[in-house]
Amino acid sequence: MPVGPGCVTLGGMVTLTGRSALVTGASSGIGAVVAEALAAAGARVGVVARRKDRLEQVLARCREHAPDSALWTADLAELDAIPDLAAAVEREFGGVDILVNNAGMPKRRRVQDLSPAETEDVMRLNYLSPVRLTLALLPGMIRRGRGHLVAVGSVAARLGPPHEAAYAASKAALTAFWESLAVDLDGTGVRAHVVQPALIAGTELFTLPGNEEPISDLSDALPPREVADAILDLVGSGGFERYVPGWFSEMASGKAADVDAFVDGVKEWTRDRLQP
Ligand SMILES: NC(=O)c1ccc[n+]([C@@H]2O[C@H](COP(=O)([O-])OP(=O)(O)OC[C@H]3O[C@@H](n4cnc5c(N)ncnc54)[C@H](OP(=O)(O)O)[C@@H]3O)[C@@H](O)[C@H]2O)c1
Repeated sequence: MPVGPGCVTLGGMVTLTGRSALVTGASSGIGAVVAEALAAAGARVGVVARRKDRLEQVLARCREHAPDSALWTADLAELDAIPDLAAAVEREFGGVDILVNNAGMPKRRRVQDLSPAETEDVMRLNYLSPVRLTLALLPGMIRRGRGHLVAVGSVAARLGPPHEAAYAASKAALTAFWESLAVDLDGTGVRAHVVQPALIAGTELFTLPGNEEPISDLSDALPPREVADAILDLVGSGGFERYVPGWFSEMASGKAADVDAFVDGVKEWTRDRLQP
């Protein structure tokens, strides 16, 4: 297995000793588990979100592995504050080797019921915010000749789900940006990676107010650790994209082969799921 810049693999395990990582949306769900996994792999971890009390709990778990981990509270939807956040983290850590852009919000709402303001809120947090943070930390990574820029997307980025147009569009934009980012960074030592989870359990995404009830059957949801393992694998291998679970890549290639059949299939599935 090739070794990504800024880390080594020992016996198939990624070790990040001496590296620093920043994880957004680390106060709950996937981000909390990813932060702890990176700390367990040896990285000093910075955790970011709005809820300080929840971040403190995650930070305590990170510090069991990496005592000089730290937290920053920030509302990442406030885009103009992001460069200052990035500068504060770089000052404290002396640079960021791994950025995991995980903070995000759902928007389960049929297009007919969606407001323009809601679509803009989703785009701001799920797309514009990770792009701002990435652009703020990228010069330091390029100067040091190493780094990993991770985006937590969604299978919705590639597989247009029902009642999630705003959310799917934000994740598709993120994925498109990341594809070109990966190409543009060729030769710099900095790698771009995107992980596309399907249903993940133990997070707050399905209970946040302002959303319809999920249409999908949540009993199929996987633990957040699967996303953390995919991120560690991408960082260790230098690969670009992973679906969680992996078989969703076959669904994406099936869609690419016949988009009309895919859209008809999703309409039929949605009608079946919504039948009383
Ligand atoms: N769960 C799934 O099935 C699933 C599937 C595919 C993709 N994803 C993606 O995975 C990522 C994590 O989601 P999750 O499922 O773990 O949900 P979650 O438990 O709701 O986590 C969302 C995280 O984002 C943070 N966040 C939300 N708004 C923020 C803001 N304005 N500023 C800063 N931080 C903010 C939240 O912290 P605070 O509230 O403390 O700010 C929280 O830590 C998201 O990008 C989501 O789209 C999830």
